[in-house]
Amino acid sequence: MTVPNVGSSNGERVFIRLGPPPEEPNQFVVDGAPQSYSDEVRARLEVEAKEIIAKYPSSRSALLPLLHLVQGEDSYLTPAGLEFCSQQLGLTGAEVSAVASFYTMYRRGPTGDYLVGVCTNTLCAVMGGDAIFEDLKDHLGIGNDQTTSDGTVTLQHIECNAACDYAPVVMVNWEFYDNQTPASARELVDSLRSGEPLAPSRGAPLCKFRETSRILAGLPDQRPDEGQGGAGPATLAGLRVAKENDMQAPEVPESTDD
Ligand code: FES
Repeated sequence: MTVPNVGSSNGERVFIRLGPPPEEPNQFVVDGAPQSYSDEVRARLEVEAKEIIAKYPSSRSALLPLLHLVQGEDSYLTPAGLEFCSQQLGLTGAEVSAVASFYTMYRRGPTGDYLVGVCTNTLCAVMGGDAIFEDLKDHLGIGNDQTTSDGTVTLQHIECNAACDYAPVVMVNWEFYDNQTPASARELVDSLRSGEPLAPSRGAPLCKFRETSRILAGLPDQRPDEGQGGAGPATLAGLRVAKENDMQAPEVPESTDD
């Protein structure tokens, strides 16, 4: 949408163009996306939505998990899914869309079985994340936010995942693969496409994207609980050096506030 004739302080006219950035897919506009759910799907989702909503003192607080629930149904947020959330929570479509479009974990287009996210934020980038991303684009023959023709892998560059101590990291359906190289990342995506996924570096075993979305919605996680692996040597390196050098945190001055 263009808003014309907005004045500036020096009298020149400026034009403000609103809408998605050129690189960003239009919001929730996908050819063939379901516009509503069948009675059977709706009935099934309603049972699960009720279970999720009951966990929150205010029903509208369940919007984030419900968005994951419908993403687990369609692999992305569709008009059907957004309408379902709106109806379950008594929210307007605008309220639901405003939240859904804010968070990057909610997908705006069909997603493969495995969402492969390559961190290209600062530390991962200098440690090889950019090279991994370029290499995977070549290897898979797809660009950012695109899916292989067999529907298995969606490739995406992502921002920092708070795992900089294991840089460069690749995430598959939000499970970590640490200290990657272009060669190891190629091996990883090949394993996904072959149906025998390599195990994540830590955390729970990998599952497919729709199942991951259902777990994020708060539905039972049937995977064995293997913990998150705790802090590894890279995470604790600073603490180790501090202990070796008998370093202490400075005293916190007493507050002078009354
Ligand atoms: S920069 Fe990649 S995890 Fe922090």
